[in-house]
Amino acid sequence: MSKSIFGIIGLGVMGKSISLNIAEKRFNLSVYNRAEGNEKHVVNDFLSINQTFKNIKGFTDLDTFVNSLEQPRKILLMIPAGKPVDIVINKLIPLISEGDVIIDGGNSHYINTKRSIEMLKSKNIDFLGAGFSGGEAGARKGPSIMPGGSKEGYKKVSKILETLAARDFQGNPCCTYIGPEGAGHYVKMVHNGIEYAEMQLLAELFALMSRSMSYEKISEMFSSWNQGSLSSYLLEITAEILLKKDGDHYVIDLILDKAGNKRTGAWSSSSALELGVPNTMMSASVFARYITSFKDKRVEFSKRIEVQSNSILNLKFEDLKRAYQLARIVNYHQGFELMSVASKHFNWNLNLSEIARIWTNGCIIKSTLMENCVSIFRSSESVLDDSIIFSSTSEYEQSIASVLKEGISTRIALPCFQAAYNYWISITTNRLPANIIQAQRDYFGAHTYQRIDSPLHKFFHTNW
Ligand code: 6PG
Repeated sequence: MSKSIFGIIGLGVMGKSISLNIAEKRFNLSVYNRAEGNEKHVVNDFLSINQTFKNIKGFTDLDTFVNSLEQPRKILLMIPAGKPVDIVINKLIPLISEGDVIIDGGNSHYINTKRSIEMLKSKNIDFLGAGFSGGEAGARKGPSIMPGGSKEGYKKVSKILETLAARDFQGNPCCTYIGPEGAGHYVKMVHNGIEYAEMQLLAELFALMSRSMSYEKISEMFSSWNQGSLSSYLLEITAEILLKKDGDHYVIDLILDKAGNKRTGAWSSSSALELGVPNTMMSASVFARYITSFKDKRVEFSKRIEVQSNSILNLKFEDLKRAYQLARIVNYHQGFELMSVASKHFNWNLNLSEIARIWTNGCIIKSTLMENCVSIFRSSESVLDDSIIFSSTSEYEQSIASVLKEGISTRIALPCFQAAYNYWISITTNRLPANIIQAQRDYFGAHTYQRIDSPLHKFFHTNW
């Protein structure tokens, strides 16, 4: 029997879609899923539904699965991040050979990925931590892929990964080698952090607009914004979501207001805190999700608040649009800044223009602004370094101020817009009140300070 050139472990939603994507590209493929508990029939069901693909072989025994692959074996793990990845790697080690490649396609933490790379390197096995974005549809039709880790390993699998990836505006694959260690998973983590803030901004717009606009009207407005420079996948799907009905009800009205998360936004924020990067929008979005989970408390406290409910939206639509434009620019600026600092810190040599390019299609944060970032990062170090972007952002400043005022007067929390505004004001203010912080630190702890009338290498202490 001829051997398969690629293997996939894990037939969850993403694993199935990637398998079909690869099979459609005519690669011979082996798939494995355990046959325990409620996963007993996963492999058989998958094969019987997809009988048209004669190039897929299914396995429930790991040893036979591994033996069905040609060498060097190329095995993609599409399983939940964390412990499951370690367990499967440990089961694979005695079965595979030197020179084989394992790719972890889940949202693993980049530190775990680095650890797995080192452990497997000592056994001469190449390991790649590859971020896959695009959800189920992206995985099926073409995801954006962010592989990092062993460069040798990438060379062995690049043909397959690049074939199954989405295409950018010039027809090139939305897949590129990101960098060593956990760089691929780090970049996917930041992608998700940007995604969290993009989602939160749309939720905040919805909170403001739904006070006095029908869902149809909001959807119409989002769709019209989506025709121009604001266009993005998340804006497009939100316009669609608003119209969906279940019987007489809008689905959106039936969904409980408690947001879930699988940690990648929190990891991005904590990396920003560790590296000293003011990534305020991601953190605001993570905390905004966390606050929603205190539903019982919110219900209880809300009963104690007497509000004059004002349902009239006292805002120009143009201000909403311009505020959204500013916030998105700041979000992209912060996200790319985090990768830029991480790149220097970890010595990864990340190519930000290439990262923006592979995010122009297939992924959740694809947008027109992302397309602009491809060229911005060819000549600039950051999004706001671009003079056109900078001057349009400053033109939007008054609009975001009006939106925030409206939020305050109508008692609508706008944490992500607020974070964008405060960042923009701070980063464009010559003198901030950090002199007070430095004086306080010196007062209680003799931490010393620098002076504006002395060279910066000199530190002073005052006997307060
Ligand atoms: C993607 C998404 C995806 C993410 C989910 C859920 O790029 O396809 O980012 O990888 O894991 O959207 O993330 P949360 O549960 O944390 O919202």
